[in-house]
Amino acid sequence: MGKRRIQIIQQRRQAQKRKKALIYMAAGIGIIGLLAYGIWNTSRLAEPLASETLIAFGAQVYSNNCAVCHGENGEGHASTPLAPALNDREHAWHHADGQLQELILEGGIEMPAFEEILEDQEVVAVIRYFQTWWQASQLDTQQARSVSDPLR
Ligand code: HEC
Repeated sequence: MGKRRIQIIQQRRQAQKRKKALIYMAAGIGIIGLLAYGIWNTSRLAEPLASETLIAFGAQVYSNNCAVCHGENGEGHASTPLAPALNDREHAWHHADGQLQELILEGGIEMPAFEEILEDQEVVAVIRYFQTWWQASQLDTQQARSVSDPLR
């Protein structure tokens, strides 16, 4: 075999190696991209149901009236051990909008009634606020349920 021919074969081999490396690199980037998308997708906050202004107002109502028992971030069991979490961890998202509203207005066994304390708009805002803690799938289920039991 001539020197020139050997050179050509070596060049071709190198080109093939480079091509393989490129394919592996592209596949790697693709896989990392998919993983990142998966993480982003599952940790995505539920779509807010109200304007940013109403939700910010709800956050104020929450920290002034609810956080003492339900925790600063809705983790529950703060000053009142029986107060459930209002975030995505416990039962809150199983209630339709109308049920949540009624519960807040009328109170429970240990929870005070807010009918005489909060304006209607404040109750709506606080519901829309703690709903931002739910997962998108929970919010979807809860909203489907709320069609027959909406806010009044
Ligand atoms: C004094 C403590 C206390 C305060 C203040 C309080 N809660 Fe509660 N909340 C409770 C308790 C305890 C329960 C469980 C029902 C019961 O026994 O009263 C409850 C239940 C709930 C539930 C039902 C959750 C579920 O999983 O079924 C919601 C929703 C709720 N509270 C929202 C609020 C909101 C919104 C505020 C503020 C406007 C608020 N609570 C203020 C103690 C409190």
